[in-house]
Amino acid sequence: MSGTTEPFDAVDVIRTKRDRGRLSDAQIDWVIDAYTRGAVAEEQMSALNMAILLNGMDRAEISRWTAAMIASGERMDFSGLSRPTADKHSTGGVGDKITLPLAPLVAVYGVAVPQLSGRGLGHTGGTLDKLESVPGWRAALTNEEMLAQLEDVGAVICQAGSGLAPADRKLYALRDVTGTVEAIPLIASSIMSKKIAEGTGSLVLDVKVGSGAFMKDLEQARELARTMVDLGTDAGVRTVALLTDMSTPLGLTAGNALEVRESVEVLAGGGPADVVELTVALAREMLGAAGVTGVDPAEALADGRAMDVWRRMIAAQGGDPDAALPVAAETETVLAPADGVVVALDALAVGVAAWRLGAGRARKEDPVQAGAGVVLHAKPGALVRAGEPLMTLHTDTPERFARAQEALDGAVVIAPDGSRPAGPLLIDRIAAG
Ligand code: URA
Repeated sequence: MSGTTEPFDAVDVIRTKRDRGRLSDAQIDWVIDAYTRGAVAEEQMSALNMAILLNGMDRAEISRWTAAMIASGERMDFSGLSRPTADKHSTGGVGDKITLPLAPLVAVYGVAVPQLSGRGLGHTGGTLDKLESVPGWRAALTNEEMLAQLEDVGAVICQAGSGLAPADRKLYALRDVTGTVEAIPLIASSIMSKKIAEGTGSLVLDVKVGSGAFMKDLEQARELARTMVDLGTDAGVRTVALLTDMSTPLGLTAGNALEVRESVEVLAGGGPADVVELTVALAREMLGAAGVTGVDPAEALADGRAMDVWRRMIAAQGGDPDAALPVAAETETVLAPADGVVVALDALAVGVAAWRLGAGRARKEDPVQAGAGVVLHAKPGALVRAGEPLMTLHTDTPERFARAQEALDGAVVIAPDGSRPAGPLLIDRIAAG
């Protein structure tokens, strides 16, 4: 921007990265700040994002880029709380309702869980959309309300305030429309800027791998996890990542109220084994990172203590934990085409089907249907007979069934009896060092 008082020229910054150079701290600080206040144009930032996607950034550059995004907004401070804090972030998947049982479960052990969550976009669901199916529940809290609830109940799931990392909001919207979402330095800095600005003392990352996840490939997921763990650690947040499977949906439901119902089953000591396994594994990591050891979180699911916190957490945000959840007006069943063992059930296909049934949105201002989604009757490993129900589709608008069925074409693979589905749920653990 020659002729202005700006200390750098955006074109020079773009050329540096285009030619595989390192961006200096001063260049990074300037470009993030200038973009946020509108002094770097959208097309310039999109060229820089593409240069970063193609040529990467080293650890120091990613760390500085993240710090500059944090500096674009406010930082929250939980240091006045009487409890340690631990948060969890999932990179997103199909049927991923783990936050709902996890936050109250961890709070049982005296650790505060400040869970700033988002809404769904595309085939992955959003935690706030799920909780909004509980009558009366509200997502927007002031910082003061959030702190009071953390001290009193120990767990909050709410919407992130607009003051947190505003640079990320602008950058993410730009990346979405310029083919630059999939750059590991940009994903890692986007997620971690919000988590570090939120002020949690420890953080457990659930990095999903497989068809229903951002990262389809294990090596890429590992690199993303390692980059985020390094960023958290450099910022003084105790950070650990689990790599977990997202080739098939988590649990038996995908869709807002359907997933709340399943989460309540888990809090009542039941629910699908994979949801329980991941909830307990993440709780153990969060408790360990917050310094709580020698406890078995599975016990608080079985004996009702996690359910007690859930009820108080929902009620504190205006929700009625005893109210009936919305149910879709119409259902349609998908039947097994043959006898055999289900060896694959594609997460992406189920996520797209749930989205097309009305559980998700195409644009961020669209409404969602609380009752819409998919209920699975058979997961990989199950023995089925031809003509038995494989899944039930739920929607208020039956004209959506045909497009949902199209998404599910080829999603279920049934092999002869004796075949085995592949892969464990917990794939790897990545810690600092
Ligand atoms: N989630 C985020 O918050 N940012 C990304 O870049 C990707 C997923």
